[in-house]
Amino acid sequence: MSGGVTPFDADESAIAVAHANVALVKYWGKRDERLNLPAVGSISLTLDGLRASATVGPRPDSGACFLQDGRPVDGVAGRRMAGFLDLLAGGDGPKLATSVEANFPVGAGLASSAAIFCAVTAAALSLLGRHVSLAHLSALARQGSGSASRSVYGGLVEWHRGVADDGSDSYATQILRHDEWPLALLVAITSEDMKKHPSRDAMRHVAATSPLYAGWLEAQDDDLRAMRAAIAARDLAEVGRIAEENCLRMHATGLAARPPVLFWTPATVAAMDAVRALRDDGVGAWFTIDAGPQVKVLCHPDDAEAVARCLRSVPGVLRVLRSGSGPGIAMQRGSVPWT
Ligand code: DP6
Repeated sequence: MSGGVTPFDADESAIAVAHANVALVKYWGKRDERLNLPAVGSISLTLDGLRASATVGPRPDSGACFLQDGRPVDGVAGRRMAGFLDLLAGGDGPKLATSVEANFPVGAGLASSAAIFCAVTAAALSLLGRHVSLAHLSALARQGSGSASRSVYGGLVEWHRGVADDGSDSYATQILRHDEWPLALLVAITSEDMKKHPSRDAMRHVAATSPLYAGWLEAQDDDLRAMRAAIAARDLAEVGRIAEENCLRMHATGLAARPPVLFWTPATVAAMDAVRALRDDGVGAWFTIDAGPQVKVLCHPDDAEAVARCLRSVPGVLRVLRSGSGPGIAMQRGSVPWT
């Protein structure tokens, strides 16, 4: 992580570190936009290789309240972070600001918002001197970005859809700790550009216009059940199969939207083909893709080098990041705000 200078005094700021996660059964669609409640449950793997740290301190009288890699973020992303910091501080709480650094490309379909909003939540609560349960921390992070609810925990994690109107039962819980089942996840980067369609806008558009969205909602509980069982049995081939099918069903909803939403580039498709060819050769590897062009490939750690070599040789793949199953939220400075 680059050592950018944060504009905060050490004794009046807190720093938290969180890791990105990749959904194996995806969150796609909301049941409540204001509280950021999901239309479906989801299951993810927290990644040790993709890390964000957030420093939270008092908001300066002038200047940005959100710095990313030392640069002010304005526009929609800046306003979203300002609103989230206000929510965490509460109506008459102090005005907060945050400075965030990530060790991977932000806004390029690598779940940066998951790591960033999770880290900001923990750092802000620490600074505010609050103590909450991990479930409550997850529910707060969810209101910054849905996938951030899952980065609170390491390993394999489920974010529950919940049924309560106030969202009190929509938070994540851990299925397996990161050291309970070693897994590898390779990310084939096919573009470092900002996403064409932010997840938030894309899922709203798909839910409103895609005739396949109803089918997506209907199939999700079966995938969640099957994924829980496959994880309990440590059955990697079954986990991979469900993840691949779930990802393709999510992307199919986009293809049927009006106008269509397609996240893939030719390199994305070539990487998917390469993963299928690996499987034909007897290597256990399965892909998943989020709201961007990068291809994430799940495999056993013993196969990770062979899979990485294969992905690097795919035309259009710029580089390959390697992750394992990662840990949950941690404080780097300040008191631990969870109990
Ligand atoms: C395709 O969590 O970024 O990566 O809640 O609107 O901030 P907001 O959306 P976000 O969506 C992630 C969508 C996904 C699937 C997933 O991570 O489950």
